[in-house]
Amino acid sequence: MSDVLRVGIVGCGMIAKKNHLPGFAKAGGWKVTALCDVRPERMAEKAEEFGLAEVARFEKDTDLFASGLVDAVAICTPNDCHYPQTLAACAAGLHVLCEKPMAGSLDQCTRMIEAAKKAGVVLQINQSIRYNAAYQTIVRKVREGAIGDPFHVRCIRAGNGTPNKGWSPGADWFVQKKHEGGMLVDIGIHMADLLRMIMGPATKVAGLVDTRLPDIDVPDNISALYRYANGGTGVLELSWTLPGGAGFLEVYGTKGRIRMGFAGKDIQLWQDGPEGGESVLVPEPCPSSQVVFARAIRGEEPSWTPGEYGRRALALCLGALESSETGKWIDLPAFPGENLC
Ligand SMILES: NC(=O)c1ccc[n+]([C@@H]2O[C@H](COP(=O)([O-])OP(=O)(O)OC[C@H]3O[C@@H](n4cnc5c(N)ncnc54)[C@H](O)[C@@H]3O)[C@@H](O)[C@H]2O)c1
Repeated sequence: MSDVLRVGIVGCGMIAKKNHLPGFAKAGGWKVTALCDVRPERMAEKAEEFGLAEVARFEKDTDLFASGLVDAVAICTPNDCHYPQTLAACAAGLHVLCEKPMAGSLDQCTRMIEAAKKAGVVLQINQSIRYNAAYQTIVRKVREGAIGDPFHVRCIRAGNGTPNKGWSPGADWFVQKKHEGGMLVDIGIHMADLLRMIMGPATKVAGLVDTRLPDIDVPDNISALYRYANGGTGVLELSWTLPGGAGFLEVYGTKGRIRMGFAGKDIQLWQDGPEGGESVLVPEPCPSSQVVFARAIRGEEPSWTPGEYGRRALALCLGALESSETGKWIDLPAFPGENLC
């Protein structure tokens, strides 16, 4: 394998700008050799901004996949594109770093995992919380036993607006069912996965899922209650309509608790006992998704977020939705044989 891995960016919107283009540049060992977007002006903007004027541009994804110009692709398109584009990229023998949510259904996730296995390529899902230093530090502390046995976790992530107004102005697909948008798979898929990292496997979920905004047809407010295999509980609250917004995480264990404010700031650890008390946790650096993707392709270590993780995170969200629709607790799939953390 060559020293430099060649990657194509499929979808040159906001996450390409904020995460993938800077991430591949910073990771080292990567060269962006192609851009793809159905909107040529998006490719032109990113080429200008990231010094990629000489790089090939494609308006059609399959033309890029067949070009021979890339070893891997980062799929940064609206949610409903992830499944067909991943299948096509795998069939072309390309490694895939696919944005979350991995797909719209667990069956689609399974087909993507199988397609990557069949092609012998790496499929990594950009569950980016798992590459975030603050969250990783909390998870590590809990696993080291800093708060004893964790038995309850609470998380709220709320804003007062939808991503098509704030994050990526005009990206209306975020609030459209036909493009598989909605708060549950936008932020919920990260936070439900985080709660599961802290508490271990979830066995069932009850959810209340609402759409409050008049002009959208996807969930914008979610309350979910999880039961974990360790006997513990988790509460997840998500909203796009909370005046002023809100964001915090609290983890309670038999010997202490950890609290974090919005956006990874102010992580406080309180420990019981004579040696205990309040202290501040300083996040330890962790590698980016693009660094880990390269290591997985080179066979140095397995991906931290393979397709199986993306599928499991989606199951945590779809369960909450099904519960809200049926009024019942939903048993979550166990995915036997997968020893995942
Ligand atoms: N991991 C994270 O934390 C995180 C954060 C934000 C967004 N995302 C995910 O990233 C993906 C993209 O989000 P975004 O904010 O960049 O959206 P965006 O609307 O800003 O960008 C999407 C781009 O894809 C292009 N596109 C649409 N259909 C295409 C196709 N068939 N082929 C090629 N290009 C196509 C659009 O023209 C647009 O430029 C979504 O799946 C979203 O959930 C992940």
